[in-house]
Amino acid sequence: MVKTMEWQGQSLLLLDQTKLPSEIITILCKDYRRVGEAIKRLEVRGAPAIGAAAAFGMVLGWQELASRYADFSQETLLIEFKKIKNFLLSTRPTAVNLGWAVEKIYKHAVAMINAQQSLKAIETSLGNLACKIYQEDIEVNRRIGIYGAALLPQQARILTHCNAGALATCGWGTALGVVRQAFLDGRLEMVYADETRPLLQGARLTAWELIEDNIPVTLITDNMAAWVMQTQHIDSVIVGADRIAANGDTANKIGTYGVALAAKYHQIPFYIVAPISTFDFTLETGKQIPIEERSADEVRLLHSVVTAPQQVNVFNPAFDVTPGELITGIITEYGVISAPYIENIKKLQKILQEE
Ligand code: MRU
Repeated sequence: MVKTMEWQGQSLLLLDQTKLPSEIITILCKDYRRVGEAIKRLEVRGAPAIGAAAAFGMVLGWQELASRYADFSQETLLIEFKKIKNFLLSTRPTAVNLGWAVEKIYKHAVAMINAQQSLKAIETSLGNLACKIYQEDIEVNRRIGIYGAALLPQQARILTHCNAGALATCGWGTALGVVRQAFLDGRLEMVYADETRPLLQGARLTAWELIEDNIPVTLITDNMAAWVMQTQHIDSVIVGADRIAANGDTANKIGTYGVALAAKYHQIPFYIVAPISTFDFTLETGKQIPIEERSADEVRLLHSVVTAPQQVNVFNPAFDVTPGELITGIITEYGVISAPYIENIKKLQKILQEE
């Protein structure tokens, strides 16, 4: 299985996802600025992978501060560390895993400073915490995969959108974690992957990582999804998530909402697959989820080839929000959550608070 990132103690090695599938090259991030750039440019992408990369970025930030500010007060250190956190937070607004991970690292540093720990001890501990975030993501995905695969029939035919695979996480994947588990269980017949315009995460990444692991995949363009549902015996639609509000409304890659509407019409179960780090309990509904808008050229050009008039007006939201009422279930490491979402997500939150 492909490796999205590798922590090297003083640097973070990233697989450059913008170059896949034609080139397999890595980027060595020696400081938090480069990690932030990589997140902005989608060299590392996918909500859980962004979270883990940002956690390692925070560690690189701390290492830099600790070397430069050894003679400064603890207060100055924390002010500077907060600036690094805010910089990383500003790179992409929709995936909540980013905030979840950097807050975790930041709070840990504050607690250790308050406990009068040395800068070196804090550095080691932050590094261990980032590695734990990374490792736990893989374990969580495996658990999610088992819950998800159990929902599928024999010879399952799945449709997915974007890439919620090993590449979008620290390994195994969320939506594709379910696919991988179903494949291992011998119950997967075919995955239909939407190409996912404008940046082609489905064509470039999902198709690539499934082929790498010999998992049967058929690539379709986005505008074929409804027809494929009607004619190709799709059993379930399975996608990832970037942020889930307290009422189950879910932000995911632009196009997901349309796929959910088509699935509803064809009475095909539509599942969101996500770890609890993707829930934002502070947002009552999906209307409050910030939606990233990206450069117009992502739509005007296709791999640097001009496909539209340069002066044409473009709308390029990177995500959309699927209302909870279109979602059959949200598959998490704590099991499958279904409607009524407000009540059941509250129950999940209570379990988490009691842990
Ligand atoms: O813009 P991207 O490629 O970061 O968008 C990724 C998605 O929308 C994924 O479906 C989502 O992050 C879930 S990844 C497990």
